[in-house]
Amino acid sequence: MISKELQRARAYEAAKEKLISESDRPAFHLSSRVGWMNDPNGLSFYNGQYHMFYQYHPYDSHWGPMHWGHAVSQDLLHWSYLPAALAPDQEYDRCGCFSGSAVTLPDGRHLIAYTSVTDEIQPGGDIRQIQQQSLAVGDGLTYEKVDSNPVLTGKDLPLEGSKYDFRDPKILCMKDGSYRMIIANNHPGHGGQMLLFRSDDGFRWSFSSILAKNENRIGLMWECPDFFELDGRYVLIGSAQDMLPKSLEYHNGNGTFYLAGDFDSHSEIFCPQADHAVDYGIDFYAPQTVLAPDGRRIMIGWMQNWDTCNLHTASIPWFGQMSIPRELSLKNGLLYQVPIRELNSLRVNKVEYKSVPLRNKTISLPGIEGRTVDLEIEVTPFDFMKVYHKFSVRFAKNDSYNTGISFRPYESTLKINRKFSGSRRAIIHQRRAHVNHKLGAIKLRILLDRYSAEIFVNDGEKVLSTTITTPLEADGITFSADGALTFSVTKYTIKA
Ligand code: FRU
Repeated sequence: MISKELQRARAYEAAKEKLISESDRPAFHLSSRVGWMNDPNGLSFYNGQYHMFYQYHPYDSHWGPMHWGHAVSQDLLHWSYLPAALAPDQEYDRCGCFSGSAVTLPDGRHLIAYTSVTDEIQPGGDIRQIQQQSLAVGDGLTYEKVDSNPVLTGKDLPLEGSKYDFRDPKILCMKDGSYRMIIANNHPGHGGQMLLFRSDDGFRWSFSSILAKNENRIGLMWECPDFFELDGRYVLIGSAQDMLPKSLEYHNGNGTFYLAGDFDSHSEIFCPQADHAVDYGIDFYAPQTVLAPDGRRIMIGWMQNWDTCNLHTASIPWFGQMSIPRELSLKNGLLYQVPIRELNSLRVNKVEYKSVPLRNKTISLPGIEGRTVDLEIEVTPFDFMKVYHKFSVRFAKNDSYNTGISFRPYESTLKINRKFSGSRRAIIHQRRAHVNHKLGAIKLRILLDRYSAEIFVNDGEKVLSTTITTPLEADGITFSADGALTFSVTKYTIKA
């Protein structure tokens, strides 16, 4: 039985989507079918294709009562929308169906776990939203919420865990056929914690242990956990609210982080050895991963940030897009990310320049331009005894607009700057990250879609992502040097 709330959302999105032309959307990044999109949800490989659900408010381009949008893909690059999967239509989720995940059950059904938000009169008389976990089972198209919902409530929390901040269940399938669920929770005064729950059948859950605690090190509340084995170690990914900056590692506001370390599968104790940001740019949050059938661990994040995403005033037909899917690996305890290799088959019109000398000037190169572009760049100093001061690339550029990156070897920093990208708000337009290089020798890969740029440094050692709103006719690309260097560049057009 499809509820009237879900029917209404499905009818609305099917009608409104017709008003959006394909060329007004990103070419190869998933965007909201209509209205608003935030976190990726339920990213999974089910019945021969990838399923991506997402936090969705179809009726407006701003956040509102959360539904789950739905899209499917064979290659994580070409997506087809399916009808919305969940709407807030029960007592226990009347304030929204928040983030969650999906796995395949042994009988072939698709199991969704999500945070059902409802409100409750508090002892003092205030009404407050509380967060519980609920399940829905489906066939890849239609999902039915189970009768036992909510399956985890405030009563299942460890001592002092807050029922107001208890969300974003990520289900893991264990080798012995049992299940675990990692859920973000607030421990007031200490910040976020990631809780581990267990189940033998995927339906009846009980608290097991606290997998990781913030203790106010990285922001306050933690959200959107993911936990997986990668190259022999374990990685816990989270998104932190209300961070204070820490050198150039973490920035003010909301941001992503990962903890990498060892996990003892018998005691289920996780010993993280290090923490770092997942993405050092402006727009990246709440990533989720999926294990591809060939064993690759692939991550997709919401390419936006909470501090600026609600500042558009005009009602626009869609808002919110996902990052490029990224293949993950762990080297020396550090998370590396590269665009999924499926992208290579969309690369056409190769233009290549080798060892271009550049000294104290700005140049453009014939054939190197465009707004759906994959650029691979290698920079070396002209003279290793006298390293240049700055190397910059500007793109989405014409006389009025540009977005740029600049690398300063003496500071070992890479800056992204979208101040001239068409933004009309006093929001964050620049961000810097520390990057490794050998006396000014560095590798950069710039992935441009119509409304975003993702910069991969040194084969995925660091990534900086940003959205832009630049008119599409600004399609120039230039290279500048302060000092003397040589660079090689290979450009492909991405043809989606
Ligand atoms: C993260 C988040 C989640 C929550 C969802 C609500 O971006 O705040 O914690 O489930 O968004 O839309």
